[in-house]
Amino acid sequence: MSVNLKEYLRDILPQEELDLVVRSYDVVGDMAVIIVPPELVHRERIIGEAILDNLKHIKVVAKRNGLYSGEFRTIPLEVIAGENRKETVHREYGVNLLVNPEAVYFSVRSGTERKRIADQVSAGEEVLVLFSGIAPYPLVIAKNSRAREIVGIEKNPAAHRFGLANLAGNRKLKNIRLYCGDVAEILPSLARTFDRIVMPLPKGGEHFLPIVFQALRSSGILHYYDMRHENEFDESVAVVMQIAQDANRMVRSTTVVKCGHCAPRTYRICVDCRID
Ligand SMILES: C[S@@+](CC[C@H](N)C(=O)[O-])C[C@H]1O[C@@H](n2cnc3c(N)ncnc32)[C@H](O)[C@@H]1O
Repeated sequence: MSVNLKEYLRDILPQEELDLVVRSYDVVGDMAVIIVPPELVHRERIIGEAILDNLKHIKVVAKRNGLYSGEFRTIPLEVIAGENRKETVHREYGVNLLVNPEAVYFSVRSGTERKRIADQVSAGEEVLVLFSGIAPYPLVIAKNSRAREIVGIEKNPAAHRFGLANLAGNRKLKNIRLYCGDVAEILPSLARTFDRIVMPLPKGGEHFLPIVFQALRSSGILHYYDMRHENEFDESVAVVMQIAQDANRMVRSTTVVKCGHCAPRTYRICVDCRID
């Protein structure tokens, strides 16, 4: 997110239209992704040009043309100014990520959260990243830790292809292995365990916890993501505790970390747990 979009439009749009402008936007590589309210669609070209004029590193302006939806959590985008393309390279904590943010899920807003996880990884760890998308967690962990190995699993074939391209594009990072398929099928077929498992699927991740507990070593670390109203964080912890108990595992410690804002008083959270 960068400077308030209204600042660029102050001398261009009348006040009643300026009031409708959504001030925040995402910068993915050299692409700005904005929200255009229906009342301003006739102005979208001017809005896009204003961004290009003010931010010289932006070459493409795209608007969201719907909501995140479906199993792969993708969102339709429409280019409204600049070069007519949807692929870009985003740089995050020392890694380059080739991405088409329409074809795959990728949130620049989770960058600091990925680094927070990488900073916890100890030398020699074997780390599993479920729902790994274009592989930002595996790459940021590989670049910023001394993990022995990082394995990623992603079902969206397009995201997996970007993940493989990103491994090739960051070729000094050689300790990553990516699988394409459903976590429910691939994880049991690996028949192995890990020191740390990351689960960045904030809707529906709980369904995978039983097989995750089978793959987590004793004294292993689980990072379980959820979306909750601020009064309900304890319920996410309770879900982990209950499924751990059913799997005969003991939860030694839990910490809830806010890592994104979804709606008024509702957050993306990560429950960090140590599990015996
Ligand atoms: C919220 S996104 C996170 C992507 C990535 N970790 C990131 O930080 O950009 C969740 C991802 O899980 C994938 N996914 C959904 N269900 C899956 C399943 N059953 N098995 C594997 N991947 C799945 C989606 O395609 C999507 O890429």
